[in-house]
Amino acid sequence: MLPVIVAHGGAGYILPDREASAIAGVREAVLHGYSILQRGGTALDAVEETVVLLENNPKFNAGCGSVLNELGEVEMDAIIMDGKTLNSGAVSAIRRIANPIKLSRLVMEKTSHLCLTDQGASRFAKEMGIPEVPEESLITEYSRMRWQKLKESGLDPVETQMGKTGTVGAVAIDSEGNIASATSTGGMLNKMVGRVGDTPCIGCGAYADNQVGAVSPTGHGEAIMKVTLSRLILFHMEQGKSPKEAADAALGYMYERVQGLAGVVVVDKTGDWSARFNSRQMSWAAAKNNQLHYGIYKDQINTEPIPKT
Ligand code: GLY
Repeated sequence: MLPVIVAHGGAGYILPDREASAIAGVREAVLHGYSILQRGGTALDAVEETVVLLENNPKFNAGCGSVLNELGEVEMDAIIMDGKTLNSGAVSAIRRIANPIKLSRLVMEKTSHLCLTDQGASRFAKEMGIPEVPEESLITEYSRMRWQKLKESGLDPVETQMGKTGTVGAVAIDSEGNIASATSTGGMLNKMVGRVGDTPCIGCGAYADNQVGAVSPTGHGEAIMKVTLSRLILFHMEQGKSPKEAADAALGYMYERVQGLAGVVVVDKTGDWSARFNSRQMSWAAAKNNQLHYGIYKDQINTEPIPKT
């Protein structure tokens, strides 16, 4: 039954001309993560490397391709969690690095803290030898165009983006039964400078526990935080629900209480997995038993064999 990996490329409204690239991106990332697991690699390495590919892909709102804040700048959040030890590392409002997920892993492994922010996170990145990249290298024409359009409209960024935000993430269980989760995002388009979303907050933007399972969410960060979505899903799994039932219960509760739109990928300690969302779409892919599954619309699951390499 093991190993298993599931990844997402963001929940929300995906424009028709971006659907194919969103699916291609998550498929490619999950196949890469699965190849790490098949070679005996750890769940932690698999989710980190899967998220690195998604951060490097300009079609997603993380790393290169991140949305811009109210001043037209890139501030990114990321988190990684190890279900064996419950150790976690995160960065928030980090600027000018290519892969925030790698810095999160270093926060987890090289500090006694769980999250570093803004200037402190940049200082730590320098100490760790992570190169600074030009801000322009993280900005795409598409993200600049969306920033300009929303700025000119004068509309409230939160209200106009309900159900339109995107983020990337992955959960995995390796052949030893170790579980991990990782999530990375540029956050919310035209957000206030210094806004921290759900992603770097443990229990909100990720959770992983070998005794239960793991979650990586995407969607409206403030709503996800209000219900601590990732930990809430694990709570439902502890009460005996499957990943699908637990995700649906928690997403339903979040919508009922705070009208939040989001999506999640979930895996449990047996390798059962699910990709669920209450937004219009979410690009996702999963690999298990040499089969690749993927989709973008509700209740759509395409399946094909993974060619042997
Ligand atoms: N879920 C990503 C964010 O709201 O920042």
